Amino acid sequence: MVGTKIAGIGCYVPDRIVTNSELSQFMDTTDEWIKERTGIEERRYAVKHEQTTTTMGTAAARIAIERAGINKEDIDFIIFATLSPDYYFPGCGVLLQRELGITKTEIGALDIRNQCSGFVYGLSIADQFIKTGMYKNILLVGAEMHSMGLDFSDDGRAVTVIFGDGAGAVVLQPTDKDGQGILTTHLHADGTHAEELAMISPGSHGGHYLGKEKFGFPDANKLGSIFVTQKMLDDNLLAPNMTGQLVFKTAVVKFPQVIKEALDKVGYTTQDIDVFVPHQANLRISQFVQKILGLPDSKVINNIQKYGNTTAASIPIALCEAWEDGKVKEGDLVCLAAFGSGFTWGSALIRW
Ligand code: COA
Repeated sequence: MVGTKIAGIGCYVPDRIVTNSELSQFMDTTDEWIKERTGIEERRYAVKHEQTTTTMGTAAARIAIERAGINKEDIDFIIFATLSPDYYFPGCGVLLQRELGITKTEIGALDIRNQCSGFVYGLSIADQFIKTGMYKNILLVGAEMHSMGLDFSDDGRAVTVIFGDGAGAVVLQPTDKDGQGILTTHLHADGTHAEELAMISPGSHGGHYLGKEKFGFPDANKLGSIFVTQKMLDDNLLAPNMTGQLVFKTAVVKFPQVIKEALDKVGYTTQDIDVFVPHQANLRISQFVQKILGLPDSKVINNIQKYGNTTAASIPIALCEAWEDGKVKEGDLVCLAAFGSGFTWGSALIRW
């Protein structure tokens, strides 16, 4: 049976570095607090009005296409994962097609949400399409421009300090080389805690899920509109909501579980992993998971210190940098795993 390989990988981060100390000029936070709780030292912010989630995704995609040794016109399917799209609709997939200058219409463009696990979900989708023979060159992009949607007042500090902008992309192709490529992918979801890591307003929910008991919004029905309302502005509701400790506690359980599930499926153990690329949620989460798995530092890729959490872009950026640094070599067993909003989580094992 044909397999799916990563034929090319690229990443892009904006030039502007925003340090923890710079953030402490806008909000009540400190370099020490951020470093101690998250490991983050700095993040990148894109240039407002000049760059977008799609333009960053395009920059990463160009590199991936070139490294795959193909032409942009060879791409027959696009998968775009983001939680910070250029438009509410249409999605970034068609915008990426346009930015790349792909003029043919014999191409599909799929937009997926899935937030922090968007890249792993996208990889699994692409793998199925390649294995069935439907597509030959799938471009998978994860990109985020968080800086446009964060709350820079004290109210937003717990969320804002964590997130950064950037993009990563891969080109996926069929391979008939025995044992090469994506060995297995595992996807999970549990909507019980949907609002615990969410952008609640604006939206079409009409307050439906937001009773006083759970969220303390006495006039929740005023919060639900697909358009921005004065009430949302007055109440400073146009920012992500995150119950940090619940996210942390759930993540450190789900990461090892879903990695073990993947290893069991193909008959490997943690000792067989050569390179582990966790979603860059929080350095403490990654270190916790590393300890449970018993992996040495040399096998674990962490770059959250430089970029913060870039959600759907975090795994492809980290994988891209690791590959560029020569840390991912042919024949290596690469393990990817993610957890985030939804909650959704997943893992993938790839023989490089
Ligand atoms: N700077 C300074 N103080 C801050 C702060 C900031 N940026 N953000 C929150 N605080 C304060 C809180 O107000 C609280 O103050 P109080 O004790 O006076 O009430 C104190 O720090 C502790 O807050 P708490 O939320 O208990 O901290 P924590 O140890 O749980 O760390 C997170 C907060 C967000 C760093 C942590 O919960 C986390 O990383 N969770 C996972 C988040 C994540 O990974 N999200 C992405 C998922 S993909």
